[in-house]
Amino acid sequence: MEKIFNNDDILREKYMVINCNVYDITKYMGDHPGGDEILKENLGGDAREAFEDIGHSNSAYDKLKEFKIGVLADCQPLELIRDDSDDSMYYMIAFFIVMMSGLVFAVMKLM
Ligand code: HEM
Repeated sequence: MEKIFNNDDILREKYMVINCNVYDITKYMGDHPGGDEILKENLGGDAREAFEDIGHSNSAYDKLKEFKIGVLADCQPLELIRDDSDDSMYYMIAFFIVMMSGLVFAVMKLM
């Protein structure tokens, strides 16, 4: 069962809310590549827009999971927008497959 927090808890404990999930990011202070200041500015309330507007990578979205401590009561999550910067691996694989197909085709033509 997930722990459910209300807005008073969020304000009092300076938690961060992103898309109805509640995060305790105390342990992330000092490690955030965007600096601590920006994190502090977004404590105690909803940081979904700020988090999305920066265009955080997929690995940043994955990192969020490490700090999740529960969910906000009576909150309806939206689908989070993600950028594709971490999908380069898939493009490389697709490129490789296309190249290999071309090579096979060329070899078959020569035979
Ligand atoms: C617990 C919440 C957060 C996590 C886990 C997180 C994680 C990260 C990570 C991993 C990066 C490196 C770049 C990337 O991979 O996208 C980053 C950069 C950054 N983040 Fe966050 N972030 C959090 C919250 C926020 C919030 C609320 C803001 C407020 C606007 C913010 C602003 C930034 C900025 C400005 C950068 C630097 C971007 C750049 O230099 O290109 N982050 N964050």
